[in-house]
Amino acid sequence: MTNIAVFASGTGSNAVNLVKAFNSGNRIHVAICLTDREDIPVIEKMRELGVETIYFPRSVWKENPQTILDVLKSHDIKIIALAGFLSFIKEEIINEYEGRILNIHPSLLPAYGGKGMHGGNVHKAVIEAGETKSGATVHLVTNDLDAGPIVVQREVAVLPDDTPESLEAKVHEVEYLIFPEAVMKTVAAFNNQTPSESNSATPPEIPKSVDDAWAETLGIPNNVPPIPNATQTQFSSQTPPNVNPTGTASHTTPNGPAYHTAPNAPMGQKSLTLQSEQMPPTYLVWSIIMTILCCTIPGIVAIIFSAKVSSKYYEGDFDGARRASHNAEIWIIISFVLGVLSNTLYLPLALAGLFG
Ligand code: GRF
Repeated sequence: MTNIAVFASGTGSNAVNLVKAFNSGNRIHVAICLTDREDIPVIEKMRELGVETIYFPRSVWKENPQTILDVLKSHDIKIIALAGFLSFIKEEIINEYEGRILNIHPSLLPAYGGKGMHGGNVHKAVIEAGETKSGATVHLVTNDLDAGPIVVQREVAVLPDDTPESLEAKVHEVEYLIFPEAVMKTVAAFNNQTPSESNSATPPEIPKSVDDAWAETLGIPNNVPPIPNATQTQFSSQTPPNVNPTGTASHTTPNGPAYHTAPNAPMGQKSLTLQSEQMPPTYLVWSIIMTILCCTIPGIVAIIFSAKVSSKYYEGDFDGARRASHNAEIWIIISFVLGVLSNTLYLPLALAGLFG
């Protein structure tokens, strides 16, 4: 519900029209009517319609705009509609409600606007000028009199036998149409600028999944369709997956359940196998054999040469001891290198095969 205030100084037919247009609904509500005169018909009309009316003397309007602003704020007023209001609106109020104060004027502005152009004066001037058309304008209030941006405007024909009174009656009829229209436009614009108070049906933004955020960051499409009955759990190299502890990859669509992608799904994209396929038994046997051979056989040869060193030394064959020592060193190095290689290449595969 958006609260609006009506300011009026006279008969109040436009004020009544706004109350009747909005207060039986639940989107816009004329919450208060402010006046600058004490004995005017609009006060009684608002009372009958159940709309709170507050009178402030012209001195308050002129010298104490903060009092007006306090009342507007206490009633949570978002939009102000000037419906035949004859006091000047102070700059402080215009600034506070910039773009949210509407005035209705009985001519096709910018024609017949400005100082002295109000009520019957306007219609008299139009007829005296021999105009063939006049109308009504709802515009935003700025610090320049009758010169703010036009929100809605509508024409009426001025006939040769029209009098200021008959023209006023015709203009009033179109005012009753365009003023509610302009209020609705302004409320809609205001609510679109403040989404938290919006009445619109704009759906809330759906939080992005990790995948979507990734895709957006990398500038890649993330709209790969699900593949029914996909048997292998693989994912496109172009779409980072969520990986769960079992090693399967899944994508979450913004509107639907998680799905798995298959290698042949995305158009020719390179695919990576995420989960290892079943290891062939022969490969497992060979990895164990190679681990044993690499680690143990060169080690045994090195031990043999080491033993030879001491036996040659006690035999007094010092050259033989030196050669055995040299060979032992070579086989220790071979053992070390093959041990490292086997540990890095074969042992993980063997362990994966045994425990994976
Ligand atoms: C309207 O004609 C409006 O255009 C002008 O003042 C007149 C007010 O009429 N600003 P009402 O008091 O609403 O009948």
